[in-house]
Amino acid sequence: PKTPASSNVAPRIPPYKRLLGKLKEVYKVFGKKTQLTLAEKILYSHLDNVEESLLSNTHNGKEVRGNATLKLKPDRVAMQDASAQMALLQFMSCGLPSTAVPTSIHCDHMIVGERGADVDLPASITGNKEVFDFLESAAKKYGIEFWPPGAGIIHQTVLENYAAPGLMMLGTDSHTPNAGGLGAIAIGVGGADAVDAMVDAPWELKAPRVLGVKLEGQLSGWAAPKDIIMMLAGLLTVRGGTGFILEYFGPGVDTLSCTGMSTVCNMGEYNRAEVGATTSIFPFTESMKPYLRSTHRLDLLQKASSYAAIGGKGPQLLRADPEAVYDEVVTIDLSSLEPHINGPFTPDLSTPLSQFKNAVKVNEWPESFGAGLIGSCTNSSYQDMTRAEDLVKQASAAGLEPKADFFITPGSEQIRATLARDSTLETFSSAGGIVLANACGPCIGQWKRTDGVSKGETNAIFSSYNRNFKGRNDGNPATMNFLASPEIVTAMSYAGSTTFNPLTDTIPTPSGDPFQFSPPSGLDLPSAGFAQGNPNFAPTPGIPSPDHPVIISPSSDRLAVLEPFAPFPAGELEGLRVLYKVKGQCTTDTISAAGPWLKYKGHLPNISANTLIGAVNAETGDTNVAYDHFDLAESGEPPKSGIPQLAEKWKNQGKEWMVVAESNYGEGSAREHAALQPRYLGGRVILAKSFARIHETNLKKQGIVPLVFENESDYETVRAGDVVSTVGLFDMLKNGGKGDVSLKVGKGEQVIKVKHTISKDQAGFILAGSALNLLAKKEGS
Ligand code: F3S
Repeated sequence: PKTPASSNVAPRIPPYKRLLGKLKEVYKVFGKKTQLTLAEKILYSHLDNVEESLLSNTHNGKEVRGNATLKLKPDRVAMQDASAQMALLQFMSCGLPSTAVPTSIHCDHMIVGERGADVDLPASITGNKEVFDFLESAAKKYGIEFWPPGAGIIHQTVLENYAAPGLMMLGTDSHTPNAGGLGAIAIGVGGADAVDAMVDAPWELKAPRVLGVKLEGQLSGWAAPKDIIMMLAGLLTVRGGTGFILEYFGPGVDTLSCTGMSTVCNMGEYNRAEVGATTSIFPFTESMKPYLRSTHRLDLLQKASSYAAIGGKGPQLLRADPEAVYDEVVTIDLSSLEPHINGPFTPDLSTPLSQFKNAVKVNEWPESFGAGLIGSCTNSSYQDMTRAEDLVKQASAAGLEPKADFFITPGSEQIRATLARDSTLETFSSAGGIVLANACGPCIGQWKRTDGVSKGETNAIFSSYNRNFKGRNDGNPATMNFLASPEIVTAMSYAGSTTFNPLTDTIPTPSGDPFQFSPPSGLDLPSAGFAQGNPNFAPTPGIPSPDHPVIISPSSDRLAVLEPFAPFPAGELEGLRVLYKVKGQCTTDTISAAGPWLKYKGHLPNISANTLIGAVNAETGDTNVAYDHFDLAESGEPPKSGIPQLAEKWKNQGKEWMVVAESNYGEGSAREHAALQPRYLGGRVILAKSFARIHETNLKKQGIVPLVFENESDYETVRAGDVVSTVGLFDMLKNGGKGDVSLKVGKGEQVIKVKHTISKDQAGFILAGSALNLLAKKEGS
C-alpha cells in the first residue's frame, strides 16, 4: 500500500548525486586523505559555496570546526503550527510564488489532551479555526504540504515521510533532530531561519564541533533506547554539548531500531534544553532498511543503499570515514545500561533506576504520583508501544489496574491506525488507559487535568516525553515531572508509587499474591506494515496554487499581515532615545515572553505588548518599569509605564529608540519575535556588552543595528532617557560593513566607540529595512 502522501510531487529523496559532487569538492579543499565524520560530510555537502565557507575565518581550511561560517542550502523545511505562523507571514512579505525547497506544516501544538481524541480534536479545531485556516490556505497557495490537526506530531510525521539518510532539514521546533535517527542532519531553528531556506537564501551556521558517542554492546531487558539519551543528558550537562553535533558510531549502533535511534536524537537537540547540541545523527544502518520498507519508501531505500555501498570508488556519503576524528568521544556500553529516570524540573537531572528510590527519600519528592503519560514525538514507535502493551497484558492477567491515570499519545495517524489494527490500543483502553489525539497535548501544556490536583499543590507525574520544566505539562509549577522510557512509565503507573522499582519490586494482586513484571518484549515494526489511517489526515499536495486566497480575517486578534519595515534613513541616526538600560541577563524570553503570549505569535502588534517585560531596569532594579524623560509631568518627574507601552507611545510620536544592555543579549533561543517586536515598536539600535550570536543575526535580518561597546565600562556612560546620535554608521552600512562607528551621547555629547559584526550582506539588509525587504526588492527588479 502507498502512504497517503506518496502521490505528492515535492521530492522526498535527497539529491544524492549533487551532494556527492559537493563532497568531492570538500575533499579537494581538505586534501584527499582527510578523514571526515558523517556530520561533516552531510553538512559540508550542503554548502552553497564549498571553498568560500570552509576557508572563512580559518587558516587555509585548518580548524574549520568551531570557526568557519557555513553558508548552507538545506533540502527541506518542516514547521509546526505555532511557529509556522510568523514564518509564513514573513515568507509572504517577499512576494515569491512558492517556497524554494519542499516545505511542510504540521498542526500539532494547539490540540488539547483531556478526555480522548474523539472529543478533544474537534474542540481544538474549533478553538483554533482561524489559525488552521490561515496555515492551510497559505500552504495551498505556496505549494507547502499541510498536515491537518490530528494527522500527527511534526517529528513523527517527518520520520515516517520525509527523513532520509543524507538529508539536511531545518525545522521550526527544538526536537527536529529526531530525523537523525534515519541518518538526516535535522536542525531546530527559529522561523526567520526557516524563511532563509524557503526563499533560497543561504542559511548560516558556525561549523559545529563533533562529539562522537561510541556505542558498544546491546540493550537487553528493561533498558530502552530512551535510556541512552537520558544517561547522556546527565553526563553532557557537566561536559556541555553546546555547539556540538552528537554523532553516534560503534558496534552498538547496528543493534538499535531506527525508531529507537530517533528517540535518542529527539533529545539531542539545539537550544540547550536537553543536551544543548546542534543536532544528533546516526549513520545509515541495516535497521533503517526495514523501517523504510514498512513506511513504503522503497525508492528511497534503493537510492540510499546504492550511495552507501561500501567498497566503491570515491567518498562514502552516508557513513563516517574509518579514521574520522571526533573533538571528544563518550563511550556507552549498552549491555550494562540500566533504565534512568530524569527530573524533576530539568531533563538532565539523571538518576539510574536502582538509585531512584533513595533519591525520592533524600530529596523528599512525593512518594506517589497521579498520572503516567506515554507516547508523544519522543516515544510512540511501534517498538515503544508494543513493549508497553506487553507490560499492560502481564498486569491485566494478574488482575491489576493502573493506580495512576494512564494516557497514551500516538505520534501520528499512521502509528495510531497501526496500533488500533493490531489491538494494542484496545489493550490500553481496556486497562483504563485514555488514548489522546495524535498531537502534542500534555507535552506542551495543552492538558486539562481532571484528577483534582489544584494549582500550587505539590505532586508528581511520570512521562515518556522529553522535557519537564516547571509548569510544562499542566501549568502547575509544583508538579514534578519525571521522565523515563514508556516501559518504566507504564510499569510504575500500576504501582502509582515513585519508589517502586519494576525490576525488583512486587505489587499485591487482588488474590493477595505478589505480582512482579517480567522484562518487556515487543516488535520493532508491525509484521503487516503500517496501516494507512484516516484519509482525512492526509496532507494537501505540495503544488502551488498562485490564485488561492490566503485567509486572514482583518478583525483577527491572532493573525495580522506583516507590513514591510521602512528602509534605513538616508543619513546618520539623530535624536535616538534610550528607552531602557537593562541590567543582567536578557534572554529571548526576557525580550518576548512565552506562556499566554504564544497565542499571539501570528499577530505582531498584539504580541509586541510583551516586549522586554522581563527586563530589569539598571537604574532602579525594577522589572518592566520605564520612564518617559521626554514628557515630564507637572511635578517635574518623568511618568512611568511598562516598557512596551512607552515604546509604543514613542512609535506613535514618530520617535525611534535604542536599548542598552549587558553581556550575551538575546541568549536562549532563535525566537525571531525577539527581534521583530522591538523593530515593530520603533527600536533601531541595541547597544550591548555582547550578543548571543543567533539573536545578533536575527536583529540584523530585521533591520536593527546591534552595536557592542568597545570599552565595556562605557555601559556606565549611557543612561535611559539619553539622546544618542550615530557617527559613521550610515557610511559603514553603505560601505558594506566597513568603517568605524561611534556614538554621541547626551547633551555633553560624550563620544563612545562601538564595534559591530555587520557583513556586506547584513549591511544590505539593514539599509533595505530588513532581509526580506531586500529580497522582495531583488524579486521585483
Ligand atoms: Fe510536541 Fe512535545 Fe514533541 S510539544 S513536538 S510532543 S516535544
